[in-house]
Formats: sequence, structure tokens, C-alpha cells
Amino acid sequence: MKNILVTGGAGFIGSNFVHLMLERGGFERLINLDALTYAGNLDNLSDIENDPRYTFVKGDIRDAELIASLFVQYEIDTVVNFAAESHVDRSITDPLSFVSTNVVGTQTLLDAAKNHWKVDPTDKYSNQYKPGVKYLQVSTDEVYGALGREGMFRETTPLSPNSPYSASKASADLMVRAYHNTFGLPCNITRCSNNYGPYQFPEKLIPLMINNAKAGKSLPVYGDGMQIRDWLHVKDHCAAIATVLEKGVDGEIYNIGGNNEKANIYIVKLILETLGKGEELITHVKDRPGHDRRYAIDNTKITTQLGWAPAYTFEEGIAETIQWYLSHQEWMDKILSGDYQNYYERMYKNA
Ligand SMILES: NC(=O)c1ccc[n+]([C@@H]2O[C@H](COP(=O)([O-])OP(=O)(O)OC[C@H]3O[C@@H](n4cnc5c(N)ncnc54)[C@H](O)[C@@H]3O)[C@@H](O)[C@H]2O)c1
Repeated sequence: MKNILVTGGAGFIGSNFVHLMLERGGFERLINLDALTYAGNLDNLSDIENDPRYTFVKGDIRDAELIASLFVQYEIDTVVNFAAESHVDRSITDPLSFVSTNVVGTQTLLDAAKNHWKVDPTDKYSNQYKPGVKYLQVSTDEVYGALGREGMFRETTPLSPNSPYSASKASADLMVRAYHNTFGLPCNITRCSNNYGPYQFPEKLIPLMINNAKAGKSLPVYGDGMQIRDWLHVKDHCAAIATVLEKGVDGEIYNIGGNNEKANIYIVKLILETLGKGEELITHVKDRPGHDRRYAIDNTKITTQLGWAPAYTFEEGIAETIQWYLSHQEWMDKILSGDYQNYYERMYKNA
């Protein structure tokens, strides 16, 4: 691994991954390509933006010409694709943008990787690639659909997505599979459970609830709040991705999870308790259509075959996360006022 292209690196998980990789080192350059949609926030990376190993490029993963130029200019040998439309609620009102970014964008990246890494790109029967290249697709456990009270998602669980978001992620996964099976592209897919931690956009459960509770506003909970998710600290997810980059067997899928099933309502009550607020702030609202009831990840493959294990317990991770949001009010205020979207103009307009 010499030159890494990270896409969507200004988002929640991508920015945590950029931080982790710069801490760990072991490569020459990390290019962060991000379109800076509403979910991309360069404030997340302000502490590392002058690191000589780091380059930010504002651009779209669907822009084939731009992607090709980045592969040539920076001699990219590793791609980690985080870029996506990621919010289920938004996928219910605008499915097309999810198909466009999540499916077409992934296919555009796969094509660029195939064309630049194949030893002879004109030979359609050759599956020979330059040594050490790797494409990693960051996917989600939501592609497996929902579970009943029992059972866990394994890598062999059939895909059964229920929302336009998860259907677009599952479609992207199938493209990655096809590029491996048809063209021999060295790749991996990781499928992780729900993440929590710093830099998450406050439309998602945990930062939204912290923010509302702090302001004394009502906390909207879908239905009975008994939707169960398998929560993992974002830093553990990022460490797992780094492990797959290092040791993952080409063509393999790795589920990532922390064996940590919690109902949404439990998390909301924990946040209220930590902030010293009463449960009367909870308002049950009409459930989201197609809302999956339970997700749970079987992480046996990645733990036994690649030696990854989560470092955080949920109790320490959630306490640290709540403190992080409380001590980063300025970061939150800039999002709430929309000012974070001016960061690019301020920092990069003359660059
Ligand atoms: N958040 C979770 O709990 C979770 C769990 C498992 C998997 N995932 C997956 O991890 C990835 C990152 O999730 P996240 O929560 O950090 O999302 P996010 O919405 O916080 O960030 C997405 C980033 O992608 C960028 N982006 C969007 N469209 C783009 C485009 N066309 N070209 C370039 N950049 C674009 C956005 O500007 C943003 O910076 C996604 O692929 C998601 O499906 C997320």
C-alpha cells in the first residue's frame, strides 16, 4: 500500500478513517476525494489538513475523467470507498440519488481500478494485476435485511435489502463481486453494523438525541423504539477496515460487528440519564416505512481469520462519545447554522 484513494473521507466514518491511517502510517500519500454533499464536513479534518501525506480533492465518484486523472497523477494502488448517500430516511424520499451515487459511483471507481491496475487492460481474458493493488468497498449489514428475535448475519446470509438505501448498497456489493469474478479485480467488501462516535452528522440517532436533549427539545423515537442495532465504535470499524486492507483475502467479504445489540429506546434513555434529563422529552412518532426490526452481526470470520477485535466496550465508547459531542458544541453549531459548508471556500479557494 503506497498511495490510497479514500472516497467520502469528509463524512462520519471516512474522516475517522483518515485520522486513523495518518496516525498509523505505512503509506506515502492519502488522497481524500469527497463531493462535499450536505454530509461532507471538512471541519472534521481541520487538525490534519496540513499533513504533507494528505491531499483533499473536491469531486464526485461518478466523474470518470476525474477519477482516471487521480489514478495517474497519484499512482493510486489502494481504494477505500466510503462515499455514499447514507441516510435511510432520505432514501425513502429520493431513491434515485442513492442509485446514482451508491451504484453508478461504485461502478465508476471499479472501472478506473480495473483499467489502471490491469497489467494489460486491452486483454479481456487476462486477470493479471499489478502487485499489491486493492479495492475495498465499505458496505453495511443492512444489505442482509432484518432478523427476527434469533440468529445473526453471516457473510453467507442471502442479500435481502428492505430500503432504497440498503438496496443500493447491496447492488454496489454485487458490482464489486462481478468485477472480482469477471475481471479478477483484487477486492474486498466489508459489511459493518451501526457505528457511533465522533463526527457523525446530527441527523443520525445518537448525535440527534444528544443535541435535542441538551437543548431541552423533544426526542423523536420511531414507533416503540424497540428496533435493535448492533452498535460498534467508529474507531473499531476503521481499525477493522485497516486490518482487511492489510490481511484480507482477495474476493472475500468480512462482516464487522461488536456483539453489542441494543434497542434504540435503550440508547435514548441512556443519553437522557447521562445528561440529567427526564424521559418526558421522549416523543414516539410514526414508525419509518419498512423499518428493519433487528440486526446482529456474526463477526467470527474477521476475528478468527484476520485477528481483529473491537477495542471499545459499549459502556466506555458511548460515555466517551456523549462527552465528545458535549465538548464540541462549536462543531455542532456550525452544522446547525450551515456554516460548515463554507469551509471549503475559506480554506481551499486560493489553493
Ligand atoms: N454510519 C453507519 O453506521 C454505517 C454502518 C455501516 C456502513 N456504513 C457505510 O459507510 C460509508 C460511510 O458512511 P457514513 O456514515 O460515514 O456516511 P456520511 O453520509 O457521513 O458520509 C458520506 C460521505 O460521502 C460523500 N459523498 C456523497 N456522495 C458523494 C459522491 N457522489 N462523490 C464523492 N463523495 C460523495 C459525502 O460528502 C460525505 O462526506 C457508507 O458507504 C455507508 O453505507 C455506514
